[in-house]
Amino acid sequence: MTMDPGYFRGLYKSSDDPWGMAERWYEARKYAVSVALLPRERYASAFEPGCSVGESFDLIVLSEVLYYFGDADLDAVLRLSVGALRPDGQLLAVHWRHEAPGYPRTGDSVHGTLAGHVGLVCLGRYRDPDFTAEVYARAGGDLRSVAQVEGIA
Ligand SMILES: C[S@@+](CC[C@H](N)C(=O)[O-])C[C@H]1O[C@@H](n2cnc3c(N)ncnc32)[C@H](O)[C@@H]1O
Repeated sequence: MTMDPGYFRGLYKSSDDPWGMAERWYEARKYAVSVALLPRERYASAFEPGCSVGESFDLIVLSEVLYYFGDADLDAVLRLSVGALRPDGQLLAVHWRHEAPGYPRTGDSVHGTLAGHVGLVCLGRYRDPDFTAEVYARAGGDLRSVAQVEGIA
């Protein structure tokens, strides 16, 4: 089952910043690792759910959100995300790896689902005991490495 939106409304009612994004070194480091993992220096149109609506994107960021979804909603979010990526688009996924009681699935399970998705091919991965960050390309899209794009490999 997908997490009840009331859970998040309650969190934001009791705190402006429930996860301590503004202060925690964990969050600042995770953000820096995630951005460093991206193969391109710039993207023309990027989407992180919760920010806006969009059409075609060349970067979609799914950071600490996919483990809130039940099976059917997770399938739908991934299908729509892959469909919204341009042919050369990329998808960045980042998730906490420790226990998260009450969540429908773990971060490791989310990344297992992404790795097995027919529409996605993993281009790069960072994993430590706290979080996994992975960048995916659309299957059949641009799978060249950064060095290949730069013409040095
Ligand atoms: C742990 S925070 C992660 C924030 C940010 N993406 C990051 O990685 O730093 C989880 C966020 O997911 C949002 N969220 C969870 N389920 C959602 C849903 N079904 N639709 C939209 N947002 C959702 C929550 O409101 C919350 O802001």
